[in-house]
Formats: sequence, C-alpha cells, structure tokens
Amino acid sequence: MGELAASIAHEVNQPLAAVVANAQACTRWLAANPRNDREARNAVDRIVRDANRASEVIARIRGFLRRDDPDRILLHVADVITEVFDMVRDLADRARVSLQFQARSALDPTFIDRVRMQQIVLNLVMNGIEAMSSVGDRPREMLVEAYDDGNENLVIEIRDSGIGFTPDIADRIFDAFYTTKPSGMGMGLSISRSIVESQGGRLWARVNDDFGATFIFSMPIVRAS
Ligand SMILES: Nc1ncnc2c1ncn2[C@@H]1O[C@H](COP(=O)(O)OP(=O)(O)O)[C@@H](O)[C@H]1O
Ligand SMILES: [Mg+2]
Repeated sequence: MGELAASIAHEVNQPLAAVVANAQACTRWLAANPRNDREARNAVDRIVRDANRASEVIARIRGFLRRDDPDRILLHVADVITEVFDMVRDLADRARVSLQFQARSALDPTFIDRVRMQQIVLNLVMNGIEAMSSVGDRPREMLVEAYDDGNENLVIEIRDSGIGFTPDIADRIFDAFYTTKPSGMGMGLSISRSIVESQGGRLWARVNDDFGATFIFSMPIVRAS
C-alpha cells in the first residue's frame, strides 16, 4: 500500500508540476515586451492538457477503490493474518515488536478477498509498528484478534502498545493525506477504509485504556461466492 500511495502521488505530482511551470511561462509571455500571445496560448493549452491528465489519474484511483468485484475464495482468516505477519517479520524483529495472533472464537473458513484483506491488515499492522517505534518503557506488542461477532460479521482487531492518538485527531486520521509522520503519505487509513466499505464493512479506531491504539474492522461474512 505504501507503494500504491507513492505511485499515486508521483502520477498526480508530475502533471501538477507541469501545470505550475506552464502557468509561470504563460505569465512571462504575457509580461514580455512585446507580449507574445501565441506562446501564452500554447502554454495555456499545455496547462489544460496536464490538468486533465491529473484528473484522469484521480478518476482511475476512484475507479480502483470503488471497483465492487471482490475476488473471494474460501480461506481461514488466520492464514491471511499469518501471511501478513510473514511479510513484516523482519521489520518487526528489527523494531523489537512481538507479533501475536489470537482467534477469539471458533472461525470457520469464509469467502475472503485475500489480496484486499492483506492490504488492509498490512496497513494497520505497519501503522502499529510505526506507532511503537518511539516506545522504550514498555513491551512493543502487536496483537491481532479475529472473531465472529454472532451477527454475521467477521471482526478483526489490530492492537498495539504505541503512542496512541489524542481525541482531537481521532476524526482526522482517516482523512486522505492526513499524517503526523515526517515522511508519511497519509493514504493508508483512507484507502483501507474505502476498501472495507466497498465490501459492506466498517473500519474504526479507539485508544486503549492503558497504552496504544486498536483499529477494528468488521466485514459481513460471505458463506458462498
Ligand atoms: N496505530 C496507530 N497509533 C497511533 N496513531 C496512528 C496509528 N495508525 C495511524 N495513526 C495516525 O493516523 C495517521 C494516518 O495514518 P495513515 O493513513 O496510515 O498514513 P501514514 O501512515 O502515512 O501517516 C498517522 O500519521 C498517525 O498519526
Ligand atoms: Mg500508514
């Protein structure tokens, strides 16, 4: 997901940089003596072209997020979580973060969109690891729990012992481009929420009573696909 966010930023940034450059050129052509209307018009044409390119990129991303054809196969959610843990194991070891999975209730295999579920869990686990990077006075623990809520929903909770967040930013962390990290993109939570909601689920967060935060998402259980 970090890669997706980076490529979105890159693809949008390029045409926008070109728009700025052409707008500056246009100003110069208009201020020239004698003023050069032909070059100014050419610059405006390029501005229109590049601005359209940027909005096409945004339209594509929207389409990607809204695409409502999940590719579901029958899976144990535990296997999907384990796969994500395998992806981050080295990073977690280096960050001295312990990774634990617990099934809180008996879980039958259900139809899951493996890639999308991995994207969401990976995002939330990475955020948790990052939130614990400055913690030195307590264990750095990442706990993922899964359960059937008895209401036809599969619920996954991702709990860390990190720095948590204050109530005043609780509403903003899911906004696109909201980040408190020096090199953050601020797209992870907004994209994750879009993916969850496109499958009829919900994603929310709360701070823990002691330390850290818990991100929770709930998805309707799909028994046949
Ligand atoms: N587990 C967490 N603990 C505390 N704050 C978090 C956690 N996850 C996300 N946040 C807050 O939400 C912001 C947005 O997260 P995200 O959308 O993933 O973007 P990024 O990770 O690039 O900052 C983070 O910058 C951070 O302030
Ligand atoms: Mg993130």
